Amino acid sequence: MTSQTDPLGWAREHCPILTSFQTEYSETEPFDGYTVAVATHLEAKSGVFIETLHEAGAEVLFAPSEPQSTKAAVLDAFRDIDGITAFARHGMSDREFDRQRHALLEREPDLILGDGCGLIAMAHADHPAVAKGVIGGAEQTTVGVTRVESMAQEGALEFPVYTVNHTPMKHRFDNVHGTGESVLTNIAATTNTMLAGTRVVIAGYGYCGRGIARKARDLGAKTIVTEVDPRKALEAHTEGHDIMPMTEAAQKGELFITATGTRGVIRREHVELMPDGAVLANAGHSDVEIRLDDLETLATRMSTPTDGVTRYHMKDGRSINVLADGRLVNLTGPHSSGHPAEVIDTTHAMMFVAGHELVTGDRELPPGAHSIPDRLDRAVAERKLETMDATIDESTDRQQAYDADWRVEDRGDWVPCVLGTRFLESVSDG
Ligand code: NAI
Repeated sequence: MTSQTDPLGWAREHCPILTSFQTEYSETEPFDGYTVAVATHLEAKSGVFIETLHEAGAEVLFAPSEPQSTKAAVLDAFRDIDGITAFARHGMSDREFDRQRHALLEREPDLILGDGCGLIAMAHADHPAVAKGVIGGAEQTTVGVTRVESMAQEGALEFPVYTVNHTPMKHRFDNVHGTGESVLTNIAATTNTMLAGTRVVIAGYGYCGRGIARKARDLGAKTIVTEVDPRKALEAHTEGHDIMPMTEAAQKGELFITATGTRGVIRREHVELMPDGAVLANAGHSDVEIRLDDLETLATRMSTPTDGVTRYHMKDGRSINVLADGRLVNLTGPHSSGHPAEVIDTTHAMMFVAGHELVTGDRELPPGAHSIPDRLDRAVAERKLETMDATIDESTDRQQAYDADWRVEDRGDWVPCVLGTRFLESVSDG
């Protein structure tokens, strides 16, 4: 007996929101007549997103958002499908990655749904006439939204972009739980070593970092957090992690995971202090958080002790191990398949509704970075609950009236905050 594997079958089974959209929109085809560019990590779950847009009438052009994260399965799934074109190859070089994205933009998409702002930025920098014709876009990751907001502030953005990362249905689940779980499972799969009892340093206690730190601690790791934001550092401390600067953490840690979105978080002065055998991994969007050039300078040679691990043999005799070449460890390592499907289902559902709103909603939306309307975020949450057969309470009319009542004397539970006022007065007195 032979079994034919559907490359997207397993992912589809675990993406109930997207498959419900396929059923709902395959008749009405709201994207009919629109060319939609998708730039994201290309693996089976993204394949389900692409086929959902196509089912809803779109012509889809897709490219990776990271040259190394493309899986062959997603390319196989769409090889002979009319109306879906890949600008990708498994194992692309950085040059080919750029060439393919330029080729995609030359097809003049109406919408750009991206991850990391790469395609949106490239359209503005190198294809300004194409950017002028784009109806709108959506951006799904933290770094990408930061860049979109910079473009908007500089007045450089030619079209409206929904900041999908910042909507609760995205970052509260994808960044915290999706990144948290998939980073740790992929590190464990690559190294085949135990987290329990390991001293794990997490750089950055944003949404991703806190998910990684909490889950590592739940598995028995001794967690240390490094931060530059005093509030995030205090949050980490309050949640039971040790906090210290990287120069101190470098001497104590065994496994280091960066999740900051910025560059040079682990650099020469840190590597010089690390213990023999330290393992470094990056969860941030770009491969800039760990300075590999510093490691190369300090090393006499490099080797590959196991698939997905590069060992730097230091002049002083220590070995430092880097996973997935400092790229996103949960998406580019040999055992990586990205976030758990259920969580990416929600992220892609938010990207889908952002695109849907751009083609069916308020066409007067001005160029700039726009929050996802709360009603859409809520609608996706409700759809998710439906797919889980879960129900929740509804506020009663009396509760809603109570919540909306500003007449404090009627509430009976109001206490003036004198101390707070004095503190603010003393601050403003200088
Ligand atoms: P965030 O903005 O919530 O958190 C970043 C944190 O890093 C902030 O608390 C900031 O204060 C801190 N930070 C900045 N510079 C630092 C430094 N030099 N040392 C220590 N801490 C520093 O961002 P979020 O959502 O946690 O995303 C972090 C990165 O992960 C971004 O690059 C994002 O695009 C990426 N990301 C990766 C995913 C994956 O699958 N691996 C999924 C989602 C996001």
